Amino acid sequence: MTTTTDGITIRSATEQDWPNLILLNEICFLTPQTPELTAFWKGMVGADRPVIALDGDAVVGATMDIPMTVTVPGGRSVAAAGITAVTVAPTHRRRGILRALYTEHHARIQQSGVPLSILTASEGGIYGRFGYGPATVESTVGIDRRFAALHPAVPDPGGVRMVRPAEVRPSIADTYDRWQRRTPGAQVRPDCVWDRIFADPENERGGGTSLFGLLHDDGYVLYRRVSGEQGATARVQEIRSITDESHAALWRALLGLDLIRRIEAAVVPDDPLPYLLTDSRLVRTTSRHDELWVRIMDVPAALEARVYRRDLDIVVHVDDDFLDAGGRFALSVKNGRAACTRTEADPQVVLDLEVLGSLYLGAHRARSFAAAHRLWAVDSQTLDAVDLAFGSENSAQMGWGF
Ligand SMILES: CC(C)(COP(=O)(O)OP(=O)(O)OC[C@H]1O[C@@H](n2cnc3c(N)ncnc32)[C@H](O)[C@@H]1OP(=O)(O)O)[C@@H](O)C(=O)NCCC(=O)NCCS
Repeated sequence: MTTTTDGITIRSATEQDWPNLILLNEICFLTPQTPELTAFWKGMVGADRPVIALDGDAVVGATMDIPMTVTVPGGRSVAAAGITAVTVAPTHRRRGILRALYTEHHARIQQSGVPLSILTASEGGIYGRFGYGPATVESTVGIDRRFAALHPAVPDPGGVRMVRPAEVRPSIADTYDRWQRRTPGAQVRPDCVWDRIFADPENERGGGTSLFGLLHDDGYVLYRRVSGEQGATARVQEIRSITDESHAALWRALLGLDLIRRIEAAVVPDDPLPYLLTDSRLVRTTSRHDELWVRIMDVPAALEARVYRRDLDIVVHVDDDFLDAGGRFALSVKNGRAACTRTEADPQVVLDLEVLGSLYLGAHRARSFAAAHRLWAVDSQTLDAVDLAFGSENSAQMGWGF
């Protein structure tokens, strides 16, 4: 337990704190919580794991994390703390309570030894100061289905079945697992999260119908119909495909929904979807946004866990203003695999920990950060080498929101 200078106490939650914790969440996120949702969060986080801030008896701030496993480039699984439900009461904003909570919470994460901490951000300006960088990118696209025609070169492999999602849960969960193990940024999805997806509570459908499903041996899509003034939209909640064939087959089936005017989906920026169509301009990007943010807690462990796309032999200096995870590291990559150790040698690359977090899953480029003066490299060959090495064969994507 610690106390800040203005009398705010920081400590672990107890079972008794949960009603106030839920009230804080409802007020801050403006979302009423059902008893089922409270039980879900308590089960996933653990009743006594949230770190809370108290002003007298009142819970005025909280942060918590879910133990997660996330894939990194090359397919290895890495343990991560999935920070969630970060809240400070509107009556107590901008007095340093988030900073006090984060200082305590990250000391605990550091002690646990997990190499990564991850989160999703309600606003983009908050978490860089704590060493987090946006590490996956998603584009929301909309297609006017009435005019979409598949390119003649696109195969028609078939193999798609119409399903009621809850009736094929094992097949969907198995396909997700296979997709997750090859996708940097994707987390293992626990049973309790699947339970909520298949329960499909009405108050979480965003005004849409219950879920419809299309299933292929190597992919699936879950979607809803949402009605609007301009006609009906099929809003894809999740599309996962492991092969090019399943990707084409699922999109062919979606584009066959004759009574739907528009299809909306969130995809990675280099998704081949536009190339499936004779008129690629029909795939309109309506937003492009960050999803997963990464803070590297243990630089050598994290850098050794992933694979690289070319050899490297550099000394990198990492600045971490928030904790003491930075310093100088010798990074040597041979045949994709890295060895990373602390060193006193002069650096060839200098960057903040948040930039390293953004490069880590391969979704952002060292070259772009260098152009923005947020990564320094001793010469252009070194920059080229880092730029290429940190790429990823498979595009990074967050598996599920938390
Ligand atoms: C975001 C939130 C947790 C901040 O809490 P807070 O106690 O007011 O934050 P602090 O006073 O401890 O600020 C910590 C630092 O973050 C900065 N900061 C806080 N909120 C910020 C915001 N919305 N945008 C940019 N910077 C922000 C502060 O300036 C401060 O910077 P410094 O320590 O480097 O000087 C709080 O406003 C909140 O609960 N918002 C609604 C729920 C939410 O968005 N939660 C985040 C979910 S991801």
